[in-house]
Amino acid sequence: MITLGIETSCDETAVALYHSSKGIISNIVSSQIKEHAPYGGVVPEIAARKHLENIQIVFEQALNMAQVKTSDIDLVSVTSKPGLMGALLVGVNFAKGLAYGLKKPIVPVNHLQAHVFSIFLDDKINIENVSFPFLALVISGGHTSLYKIKSIEEFEVVTQTLDDAIGEAYDKVAKICKLGYPGGPIIEKLAREGKHDYFNFPKLMADKSQVNFSFSGLKTAALQFLKKNSPLSDEEICHLCAGFQTSAIDLLLRKTFAVMKRENIQKLAIVGGVSANSYLRNKFKEEGKNTNTEIMFPLMPYTTDNAAMVACLGYHLYKKSPSAKWNIDEVRVLATKRRRDGY
Ligand code: KG4
Ligand code: ZN
Repeated sequence: MITLGIETSCDETAVALYHSSKGIISNIVSSQIKEHAPYGGVVPEIAARKHLENIQIVFEQALNMAQVKTSDIDLVSVTSKPGLMGALLVGVNFAKGLAYGLKKPIVPVNHLQAHVFSIFLDDKINIENVSFPFLALVISGGHTSLYKIKSIEEFEVVTQTLDDAIGEAYDKVAKICKLGYPGGPIIEKLAREGKHDYFNFPKLMADKSQVNFSFSGLKTAALQFLKKNSPLSDEEICHLCAGFQTSAIDLLLRKTFAVMKRENIQKLAIVGGVSANSYLRNKFKEEGKNTNTEIMFPLMPYTTDNAAMVACLGYHLYKKSPSAKWNIDEVRVLATKRRRDGY
């Protein structure tokens, strides 16, 4: 059985094909980073227009890569929420047209749930053997939320950010320092050369009873350091990046492990664009060892937005309830503010 996955919720036009026995047989991601870079963040109107230009091309590339025909597709799976309204509409309407033309079922999926499913694209992790519940930390440009995953379909928010998403904070700090977009990979690289205690970044949310995340204070602190000490030398910029990253990851680590302890769960998936960060990966692995917690990360190509995770989730949702009414009329777009999620 071949499932087509389509993802257009933000600034990546992505199409993938998932084969029920072979796994992912093609995965194409067309990034719009160049278009949004001059603005230091995603411009919704530009994102929607670019998806419209790219979707057919990316779809054909995915078919070619897997050497399959349109008529070989058995199931269509598409991100329908949350995300940018105009951007989502392009992918959802393309998927609906295909499903209608092919007379195949269509499964709408939640982008955040799909990120969690990105860990199952690793051959070493078999979805059939996974025991529930586990916790999943979704960290991206739009979200910073910790979920309790009770089954393939059941998700519950345990805690989330009160303000900015962590990826958003990386992007904004990079923007105020004029480093480029997206900020995450740039800050990670510069932070390696910097001293994390050169600038005195605050220890956030020190109150242990508080398990929410909050990143806007770090952004403000970075802005203050920049204003006070401007112009910063290249070396000082590296110190600023190191200080920001250390404080941000420290907060994520403290609150996440506090929740793990409270919930008495020792299994954690960390997914989304920011999970590509190697400083973060090392810190969580280290704490995982100290607390006997199993930590799961997606393979690198599946950390940022992609359609492989959408196809994989769509297939498993369909497999679980094949008789559910997966019909076109029930597929609707649900847009939310980027920062808040749809749950
Ligand atoms: O999951 P994603 O591709 O899109 C959203 O759903 O938002 O995540 C993009 C975010 C951006 O904010 C980007 O700066 C961040 O992930 N990111 C990183 C790294 N790579 C991407 N943040 C920190 N370190 C990285 N290496
Ligand atoms: Zn995402």
